[in-house]
Amino acid sequence: MNNTSTTPKKIVIAIDGFSSCGKSTFAKSIAAKLGYIFIDTGAMYRAVTLYALENEGIRNGIVDEEVIVRQLDEITITFRFNPRRGASDIYVNGDLVEGKIRTIEVSNFVSPVSSIREVREKLVAMQQEMGARRGVVMDGRDIGTVVFPDAELKIYMTADARVRAERRYAELQAKGESVSFDEVLENVVSRDKADMSRAISPLRQAEDAIVLDNSHMSVEEQMEWFEREFERVQRSLQA
Ligand code: DC
Repeated sequence: MNNTSTTPKKIVIAIDGFSSCGKSTFAKSIAAKLGYIFIDTGAMYRAVTLYALENEGIRNGIVDEEVIVRQLDEITITFRFNPRRGASDIYVNGDLVEGKIRTIEVSNFVSPVSSIREVREKLVAMQQEMGARRGVVMDGRDIGTVVFPDAELKIYMTADARVRAERRYAELQAKGESVSFDEVLENVVSRDKADMSRAISPLRQAEDAIVLDNSHMSVEEQMEWFEREFERVQRSLQA
């Protein structure tokens, strides 16, 4: 895929954007193609939210910030590559939680949890350490703006809210979760709003990010688009 004569330089690829626009699928394919490490930062915020739900940090639908901040010292998040999925699974204190973090319950509470300053500080520091040696594809909301403002390639992904809700609905249905389409759409729209309007590290397009609207693009088309952009960046780094 690389036409340049020298070895491609290992870079950081930052992918930010709305929920359910296929960031993880896209990021995973890129990482597999390049032999990079893929880090799903949303999974880290979801893992903290799950821990809070299971350990009284969220009680009767109320998010207790003080308890969650205290819990941060009890939580160790690790990733282990799962060859079957072609991506890393997330573990909390050694327990595999990959399947438990994608429920509608976790989705409903992850925005308030991810707007807690101490939560962000802990997870951002971990993300920076994981990407320190470059060669990573990281997806989230603030990767190109806060975590790696010096990322060589920044992509801002977007897609129509209804298209995104349809994708998430199909995923939840496949897992057997009983949820209505309207509930999923409502969650997508309210998370967009919460992610863009929170005080700390809101979702926004970095000035030097390029936009990928994949509402009507197949995965193959997105990969072709990516290959052109990756080669452009490599040419500019080697010029
Ligand atoms: O990508 P996702 O839908 O799994 O992310 C879950 C939530 O985590 C999302 O609503 C916003 C939050 N998040 C964040 O605040 N910063 C990130 N870098 C990644 C996710």
